[in-house]
Amino acid sequence: MKCAVLGITGSIAAYKACDIISALKKANIDVRVILTDAGAKFITPLALESIAHTPVVTDMFSRERPWEVEHIALAKRADVFLVAPASANFLGKAACGIADDMLTTTILATKAPVLVAPAMNTNMYLHPQVQANIQALKARGYRMIEPANGMLACGDVGIGRLAEVDCIVEAALQALQIKQDLVGKRILVSAGPTQERIDPVRYITNRSSGKMGYALAEAAMERGAAVTLVSGPTNLQTPAGVTRIDVQSSEDMYNELTARFADCDAVLMAAAPADFTPESVATQKIKKDGESLSLLLKPTKDILASLGKLKKQQRLLGFAAETQSLEENAQIKLKKKNLDMIAANDVTAEGVGFNVETNAVTVYKADGSKEQSGLMTKRALADWLLDRLFSGV
Ligand code: CTP
Repeated sequence: MKCAVLGITGSIAAYKACDIISALKKANIDVRVILTDAGAKFITPLALESIAHTPVVTDMFSRERPWEVEHIALAKRADVFLVAPASANFLGKAACGIADDMLTTTILATKAPVLVAPAMNTNMYLHPQVQANIQALKARGYRMIEPANGMLACGDVGIGRLAEVDCIVEAALQALQIKQDLVGKRILVSAGPTQERIDPVRYITNRSSGKMGYALAEAAMERGAAVTLVSGPTNLQTPAGVTRIDVQSSEDMYNELTARFADCDAVLMAAAPADFTPESVATQKIKKDGESLSLLLKPTKDILASLGKLKKQQRLLGFAAETQSLEENAQIKLKKKNLDMIAANDVTAEGVGFNVETNAVTVYKADGSKEQSGLMTKRALADWLLDRLFSGV
């Protein structure tokens, strides 16, 4: 998970930091807040903590977490450093390298990109000293998110109002290099194994961990899509901002996915639904009597093939876990299930397949093209697959 450190300084616009935190959290970003003393006159640490879900740092010399040098830990943790609102006082201190509180000290220690969103009275903003400080910070590579024109808290009308929250959040996401190319798309992702009940205490399942599906759900959500994750039983945490629907059997998964199919733009079918299920489920626990037991299994519905038949505007991504004849089997599934793209992997290869953090696939597209991903983390592969599924859309 990427981390944004947000510095909040003394300005009436400090209350807008709640909306900034909330939007960043929705994009699955870990937000750490540093509040200056002047900032704390406008907004309380409690309000910020309630949204950020992490302790707000105010004091340089707090003894509460003595085992780490906190400003260094935060400076290292940051993937982006954002100061919003930034007061004239902050700009002056940062421009001169003064480090007399937690925020100005941490900012000197970070190597992350720094974004600064000033907010103050028009005359203060236009004062040559403030402008010189802004130029000095820009010259050092700090990026300014320019304030807007409008009615200010003091009653004056002019430049100095904190930039719109959307602009600030977009700038932060850009600095984190998180694409926002899937905004407005509704994506259904399936993940994990299914469990097919034999009797009240037993079931048949498979080795799928759900990791690839959860990585796809997280990546699509971070890129702006509204994501619904239909998940078989897994031990994984739901990515923040993703709606999760839990299912047990292949039949449950079929029902949940088909019910939502008409309203979605894409289905990423990373689950491993069982291909067979017991012909009947015993109502009582089956007792052993020394004899062998035969289970009669009937085929389940092929979910993806069913969705392929209903397909209109939707893009369909399937997976093919193979142990032999990879290309041939993948091409057959691509056509038979009416998919736009299939990601095939040889599950017998090192670092690929069930319950590992990495994966490597070859994708085959309906247009006849083919591409290999190389070995990468499932999270990186998720973005790689989304790039290809939505290329040219
Ligand atoms: N799939 C599905 N419904 C099933 C079984 C599989 O939608 N009942 C989906 C999987 O989620 C995957 C794709 O179909 O995206 C291919 O799954 P795979 O297990 O590789 O192939 P199968 O179609 O089940 O064929 P086989 O097991 O014979 O290789």
